[in-house]
Amino acid sequence: MEQPVKKQRILSGIQPSGTPTLGNYLGAIRNWKLLEDQYDCLYMVADLHTITVRQEPSLLRARSLQTMALLLAVGLDPEKSILFLQSHVPQHSQMSWLLSCYTYMGEMSRMTQFKDKSRRHAENVNCGLFTYPILMAGDILLYQANLVPVGNDQTQHVEICRDIAARFNSVYGNVFTLPEGYNPKVGARVMSLQEPTRKMSKSDAEDSFISMLDTPDAIRRKFRRAVTDSEARIAFDPANKPGVSNLLSILSALTDESLDSLVERFGGKGYGDLKSAVAEATVETLAPFQQEFNRLMADKAYLQSVCRTGAERAGRLAERTLSKCMKKIGFLAP
Ligand code: TRP
Repeated sequence: MEQPVKKQRILSGIQPSGTPTLGNYLGAIRNWKLLEDQYDCLYMVADLHTITVRQEPSLLRARSLQTMALLLAVGLDPEKSILFLQSHVPQHSQMSWLLSCYTYMGEMSRMTQFKDKSRRHAENVNCGLFTYPILMAGDILLYQANLVPVGNDQTQHVEICRDIAARFNSVYGNVFTLPEGYNPKVGARVMSLQEPTRKMSKSDAEDSFISMLDTPDAIRRKFRRAVTDSEARIAFDPANKPGVSNLLSILSALTDESLDSLVERFGGKGYGDLKSAVAEATVETLAPFQQEFNRLMADKAYLQSVCRTGAERAGRLAERTLSKCMKKIGFLAP
């Protein structure tokens, strides 16, 4: 009899450092849903990662639950995928310590995100900010993930994860699957509305991102204020016209209309027309998610049960890898 083909495993995560943005949706979460049938998926709210920057406790709690609710609201299915909060699975913290003893200071010092974040949070350059890629490597390796869908800003972290895994394997045998970064076919890199050469980020200034929970008025206002240029010419040219190009690619991602077709259609029009078209498409896309989000937030018992079940399922998988690792290293079994 033929063996059923084992699905490849996918793991990805999103930090609850703010309300997920339109960029998180178009660049990541939307794709997570498309992968659910073809792969064995784990999607995690990476709350442990979030405390590398100081958080208000009540906000961290609220945003963690909110992020989980939004994942469900866009249609991720907790029966198909394992949805969980990172801090509910203690193996992540445990694995992080083990792996930190197989990672070099020099490697961590080269991480561009560390250099960038330590510049931006100069008052709090903590050790967690430095070792963050090790925690992330553990997230991936605990589940023996084959593929890790991430944006460009995280590619370096997936590479270092491979390096750490390969090093560990070369000492102890084949303990870890070597993961690869995964760039889905559909996926827009959404840039900041105020600084369109930077990625849209939920931890930046309010006007620079669209949150998935923004009201229609807020969405319209933010797009109206989006930075463009003084040329008054609609063209897709990210190097020279980053603001306009960003609006075009958001609209294209939302409506599935090609960039060429959009450029042609908006040919003789002004930036105001483009901005209001993007705003309306955004409002329309987010409305059903917001409605479902509100419904879910009113049902805390359900949300809690999703978190609990997800953590149990993830925990079983994680424990298998962790205990194998500990045995290899030479720890006595308890
Ligand atoms: N570091 C990722 C981010 O900030 C989130 C994350 C944490 C993650 N652990 C992960 C992504 C594991 C992929 C795999 O976007």
